[in-house]
Amino acid sequence: MKIYEIVFSATGRTQKVVDVISSVFTGEKEKIDLSKYDTENKTYNLSKDDFCIVAVPVYGGRVPSPAAKNLHNINGNGAKALLVAVYGNRAIDDCLLELKNILIEQGFKCSAAISAVAEHSMMPQFAHNRPDDNDKEELKKFATQIKEKLENNTLPETIEVPGKEPYVKASNMPLKIKVNNNCIKCGKCARRCPVGAIPLDKPNTTDSKKCITCMRCIEECPQKARSLPTAVMSAVSVAMKNKFEGRKENILYM
Ligand SMILES: Cc1cc2nc3c(=O)[nH]c(=O)nc-3n(C[C@H](O)[C@H](O)[C@H](O)COP(=O)(O)O)c2cc1C
Repeated sequence: MKIYEIVFSATGRTQKVVDVISSVFTGEKEKIDLSKYDTENKTYNLSKDDFCIVAVPVYGGRVPSPAAKNLHNINGNGAKALLVAVYGNRAIDDCLLELKNILIEQGFKCSAAISAVAEHSMMPQFAHNRPDDNDKEELKKFATQIKEKLENNTLPETIEVPGKEPYVKASNMPLKIKVNNNCIKCGKCARRCPVGAIPLDKPNTTDSKKCITCMRCIEECPQKARSLPTAVMSAVSVAMKNKFEGRKENILYM
């Protein structure tokens, strides 16, 4: 049995959750990065003995579009999957259901799922610093329950997850990333963009038709040259405040 971490994590928060869950499982591990723009032609073939942690952040209640696209290059061939949707304290909406449907189509068995809270990558005042110690303890407990069933061969063949079809309509945020004069055109953002929205020869620009505002270029820019429009962001966070209130929970579906 091989353990796969199949992850889309634009700014590392989803990966943080995966690291906690994965620490409970021992054995040979391999990572498949769903945020790589150039993985398009690479196909992976897994086997029914494999166990996969498939994790994505929730974007507008859905699976991020590049993650959905790259998952179509992975054939499960009966591999068991733990689905993980990481969200920023609003809601997961239809993300887990969409992820489950994609994985079934790709030949995976969806044996367990977790929704987990992590700091909002666009509005970090929500779920600030999560996953915290309590989250980590809870996620380890969930993972241990799954591991026991995996070892006893009693993992379910399929599970119910929240969500409904048709899924919430995917909406590209109408936000334009700003680039200031600190940009030294090093091109790191262009090489790391999951959707190829930043041209390598003009890294101080962004193709807003392709951009999914995943925040990676902003977080990884060594010059802090990239940002979201602050006025729009404050207006959005005030308008949506009530949807983000309270401590939202992590949930295991099995
Ligand atoms: C474009 C975008 C859309 C998001 N949509 C939602 C959402 O619908 N519900 C929610 O609770 N959090 C939402 N979030 C927050 C992320 O799901 C959360 O911060 C996640 O941990 C980011 O993971 P990452 O660091 O691995 O990219 C959104 C974040 C971004 C950037």
